[in-house]
Amino acid sequence: MKKFLKWTGIVLLSLVLIVLLTAWYFSSSFNNKFEKVYSLKPAPVSIPTDSASIARGKVLSVGCAGCHGPDLGGKVFFDDPNIGVLPSSNLTRAVGSETEGYTDEDFVRAMRHGLNKKGNPLMVMPSESIGELSDQDLGCLIAYMKSLPPIDRKFEKRHFTFMSQVLAGAGMFGNLFPYDIIEHDKRKNLNAPPIGNSPEYGEYIVRSHGCKGCHAANFGGGKSPDPVSPPVPNISASGNAGKWTKEQFVSFFKTGKTPDGRLPNPQFMPWEGLGALPDVEIESVYNYIQSLPPAAKQQ
Ligand code: HEC
Ligand code: HEC
Repeated sequence: MKKFLKWTGIVLLSLVLIVLLTAWYFSSSFNNKFEKVYSLKPAPVSIPTDSASIARGKVLSVGCAGCHGPDLGGKVFFDDPNIGVLPSSNLTRAVGSETEGYTDEDFVRAMRHGLNKKGNPLMVMPSESIGELSDQDLGCLIAYMKSLPPIDRKFEKRHFTFMSQVLAGAGMFGNLFPYDIIEHDKRKNLNAPPIGNSPEYGEYIVRSHGCKGCHAANFGGGKSPDPVSPPVPNISASGNAGKWTKEQFVSFFKTGKTPDGRLPNPQFMPWEGLGALPDVEIESVYNYIQSLPPAAKQQ
């Protein structure tokens, strides 16, 4: 009996040790990534100073407000005792903020390459799509941010609890760092097709607004990368929205209301960013989606 207890004890202790070592391994592999400093010099983008360009930048910034707050002064993206804290940075270059002392190059590095000023990889920030903006549009957006009055709002530094470090390190949350999926060499001298309602221009808008990241490459929909989001609908010609007229499509993005009267939650379907663009640019997205083959119906 004594011998049996002794062996059970040894086995249990070894199991606990293995679990602890595994947890430690996953948490440190997450932290190594989180704290890693990448040195990357982005290709320069020229930043305009005229009022028309700043006005274009303001229009392009509407989609940022959903995460960075209506005044772009940042907000707490999540603060959960079980997960940790992630602020979506204050973008106004205020003293003590994440963007204090940000240069033009720092803005390009964050938006095109997914790295903060220090070179740490950013999380949640959708640089994989925003970084597809043309040099001209990106220049306007940066010009607009530089024109903002500094907003004095400070946050706790981003951090994660041990448990979420372990889960993240084990890959339970999927890929968390856009830096890892961006083709950095291609992120230079980017041009957009001429502004208009052509499908080519629509493809540019879709690419720089991340529609496919949620609606899938063929617009057939599926699961959202956000675990608490409702399922993502098929918006290709075979889906519900694929049957809308061009006017109904534009009206949805202007008002947030579908032709049948539904109001999709902007937290899960970020319609405001596209809705802020002139009608022709929204039409280009419709024309692009309609130019593609309908996605195979689900179920
Ligand atoms: C889905 C939410 C989301 C959207 C949309 C978004 N951001 Fe972010 N952004 C974040 C979060 C969260 C961070 C901080 C990430 C971190 O610290 O790891 C961030 C960081 C940044 C940074 C780096 C600041 C720093 O901490 O050094 C810049 C610059 C930035 N965002 C600009 C923009 C602009 C411009 C837009 C719109 C074109 C935009 N973001 C849209 C969530 C978002
Ligand atoms: C973060 C993920 C996400 C992104 C990015 C996104 N969508 Fe959506 N979209 C959704 C979800 C989720 C819904 C369903 C919302 C609901 O039913 O409450 C939706 C709904 C829609 C609808 C309404 C469909 C219907 O049948 O009611 C249209 C149209 C649409 N999206 C188009 C777009 C376009 C165009 C873009 C790019 C500019 C885009 N979406 C970007 C997640 C996303």
